[in-house]
Amino acid sequence: MAEKGRRGALVVVEGLDRAGKSSQCELLYRSLLALNYKTKYIRFPEKDRSTPIGKQIDSYLRGQSQLDDHSIHLLFSANRWEVAQSIQDDIADGVTVIVDRYSYSGAVYSASKGNPNLSLHWAWQPEVGLPRPDLCLFLSISPEDAAKRGGYGVERYETDCMQRRVRDLFLSLLDLPHNDEICVIDAGRPVDEVAQDILEPVLECMKNVDSIGPLKKLG
Ligand code: TMP
Ligand code: MG
Repeated sequence: MAEKGRRGALVVVEGLDRAGKSSQCELLYRSLLALNYKTKYIRFPEKDRSTPIGKQIDSYLRGQSQLDDHSIHLLFSANRWEVAQSIQDDIADGVTVIVDRYSYSGAVYSASKGNPNLSLHWAWQPEVGLPRPDLCLFLSISPEDAAKRGGYGVERYETDCMQRRVRDLFLSLLDLPHNDEICVIDAGRPVDEVAQDILEPVLECMKNVDSIGPLKKLG
């Protein structure tokens, strides 16, 4: 149902592990399809972790390989650059692209590792120039609610200590004055309520892309 000539919107969903990002992305994707919008759902690291870079990321996250903190950081970023052009093409083609994790996760997770040579500022730089989301939905969940959702898996960053640091850094990113496209969603509520709260700003954003103008770049 994309109106003639109207570009798609770039919608990013961010948050901690266990905030419900992937379930909400899936629900949003199905809702938009049901409303006849041209829509795609992608995630980072890319879904099957099957590109050469995706495979390296997968092996690192599972603890099967060791990499310097800067190297793995740049691989995550490169994984986004690999698909940046196709995101732009889809958007120009009227497709709304839903992205599960993006540059915000990229900067925040790496900067939470406690490496004194890897600041949030440094971590952000490789993201500069990537397509800028029209809307970023941050699914906010308290550590208590997150804990109720069951244990962490076995991947490298799934520890309480890391998640606490990630949460603090995410919150500091949300405070930055230029981040006006970020919308905080209380993700500690029932799935349907969260989905409804997500759908509204997304539809609003899709309606307003003409006034936003062409897709911008992260700065
Ligand atoms: P996932 O839980 O969404 O599959 O992501 C896997 C892990 O990768 C998760 O702990 C967050 C982390 N991550 C980064 O460290 N940098 C990034 O750029 C992205 C997209 C994810
Ligand atoms: Mg995870």
